[in-house]
Amino acid sequence: MIRIAHFTDLHVTEEPSRIPWRMLLSKRFLGWVNLSIFGRYRLFAESVRIGRALVRDLEAVRPDFIVSTGDLTGISLPSEFASAREVLSPILEDPRVTGIPGNHDVYVRSAQREQLYEKSFGAWTRTDLSVDEIPTGFRDIHPYPLLRLLGDEVALFSLRDVRPTRYHDSSGRVGARQIAALDSLFRHPRATGRTKILALHYGLCRADRSPDRRRHGLRDATDLIEVIRRHSVSLVLHGHLHGRFVLEPTALWPFAIANPGSVSSLQPHHSRAYHVLGVDRGHINLEVRRYDRTSECFQPWPEAPGAGRISGNLRRGN
Ligand SMILES: [Fe+2]
Ligand SMILES: [Fe+2]
Repeated sequence: MIRIAHFTDLHVTEEPSRIPWRMLLSKRFLGWVNLSIFGRYRLFAESVRIGRALVRDLEAVRPDFIVSTGDLTGISLPSEFASAREVLSPILEDPRVTGIPGNHDVYVRSAQREQLYEKSFGAWTRTDLSVDEIPTGFRDIHPYPLLRLLGDEVALFSLRDVRPTRYHDSSGRVGARQIAALDSLFRHPRATGRTKILALHYGLCRADRSPDRRRHGLRDATDLIEVIRRHSVSLVLHGHLHGRFVLEPTALWPFAIANPGSVSSLQPHHSRAYHVLGVDRGHINLEVRRYDRTSECFQPWPEAPGAGRISGNLRRGN
């Protein structure tokens, strides 16, 4: 059995009064208004403490692999990346980890240009395919889509679906070339016969399966879903939507979806949880571990909605 821990949306966020004004001459000003006036900072005020508890819990749980689906920071400030790096330092060089950025990690063009995410967490951008193993038409976008071959059991694909956006737009896009590359990689000989899992930052839909808003969701979700449906993908992992949910496979969408929600959001209806997925001969069992603010530790949450064996029409890869 392969056990994969998945956490998302830690959002290590700078205290607004400590942010220098010169850092706010961009879309970050809107982020600052959200943090200070609309109280977003208070929602993530415990992210450092929760991040440390998460690292301790991962050391105790000892998963075989760890997936981070982004939004490690609040508004892509260098100081936020430094804090997030410090919190996650025990697993920074850990070869078990695969990580992709969230939209808050490329919040402004300068953060993308200066590669702030890559400088802090680039070691997590891991793929097990060399350039030579990628179909020739897609070598220019290597290392994406990332492909990790986990034991003999699992092929984990990860996408980069974030880009800096304008004011009042937090949407994502995978892009036609990356979707075509994914379509090709799903058939790669090294992925054949394995349980296929796909990780991305944005959700394919909301908890009720309705599409996310145009300015908040994945712009090319329909194209991506079309490719996922054509291949034997068992499970899609994502973050971005801070409320946790798990969706079973259906006839129309023959793959499960597991979003642990933000691991650190203090919003009362958010869970502050992460998932541990056990994959065994095509079967997937989902464990939930939830942060307890009194003990400052993560604890098992067996009665969580969606916990246990993922059933329904789950497909094994071929
Ligand atoms: Fe987020
Ligand atoms: Fe996000």
